[in-house]
Amino acid sequence: MKNILVLTSGGDAPGMNAAIRAVVRTGHHGGLQVFGVQQGFQGLAEERIFPLAPRDVANCIQQGGTILKTGRYPDFLQQATRDQCRVFLQKNHIDGLVVIGGNGSFKGAALLSTEGGPAVIGIPATIDNDIPGSEYTIGFDTARNTALHAIDNIRDTAFSHDRHFLVEVMGRSSGFLAVDVGIAGGAEFILTPEFPFSTEQLAQKITTPRRAKQNSIIIIAEADEPGRSLKIAEQLRSLTGLQYRVCILGHIQRGGSPTALDRKIGSEMGFLAVKALLDGISGKMVAVQEGKLLLTTIPDPAAGPRILAHGELIDLNDVLCA
Ligand code: F6P
Repeated sequence: MKNILVLTSGGDAPGMNAAIRAVVRTGHHGGLQVFGVQQGFQGLAEERIFPLAPRDVANCIQQGGTILKTGRYPDFLQQATRDQCRVFLQKNHIDGLVVIGGNGSFKGAALLSTEGGPAVIGIPATIDNDIPGSEYTIGFDTARNTALHAIDNIRDTAFSHDRHFLVEVMGRSSGFLAVDVGIAGGAEFILTPEFPFSTEQLAQKITTPRRAKQNSIIIIAEADEPGRSLKIAEQLRSLTGLQYRVCILGHIQRGGSPTALDRKIGSEMGFLAVKALLDGISGKMVAVQEGKLLLTTIPDPAAGPRILAHGELIDLNDVLCA
């Protein structure tokens, strides 16, 4: 192992920069040349790689987003695109690749590796925390704190005006973000894709005497349908007469300075990824399992994302929001 390349892929997540920094500096510490590429696999297909020296990653640990830029690039699943990238990487003597992103990106990179490309290690990073095989993904903590801050602000105005709010959070097909910010933000209800209930059921709940409040906040996970809270608010109005104001937090949740947790875990994951490459390991993902950092099998994207396995926390919230 002499030359490694690091890239970020998929949606950006706060803490990616800590992982990039750790990869670059651990690589140099281990005697490797480290290269970066902009815009993930698209940048690789366009052969835009450049050397990264330890000083090149100074002052990025506190920044949100990714200094390497990112993107979704389905073309990398095409054999011809991977073949072209493999030849390019061979020509540049790149023998290790660290992919910071989601399991779709790891899968493409792992295929590249088995087709004669460089050794590959994945680092899970997404605000959704939905990568199978890891209890934690870089960016989740920052996103939940960003969302929580917004919910606290909404609570001030909800209280002052005696208003009801629907706050929609990200999370695509998993409710991890919704459940955590719902409990931490004192939500009236938490709607997740895993434990849906109909608008009629919701209407019934919010009109029971126990629930009849002057002001309240319902947290809704976007559930593959960003903006769905607008429709739900309208349905609730016609079913109950209650007016719900809607606040869709959207991409605000993706940006911002990473929390201590995301910087620390990003640093640890970056370090472990390069150590693995130096140890001759390939085709693995860095993961948190039972609270410990380790290497695990790259999950198959066809098996779908990690989702909430049980509704215990939603039941808990039902008790606490009395
Ligand atoms: O996967 C992270 C995520 O922020 C999801 O929560 C959201 O559904 C999606 O990305 C939005 O993607 P884009 O930024 O490409 O619109």
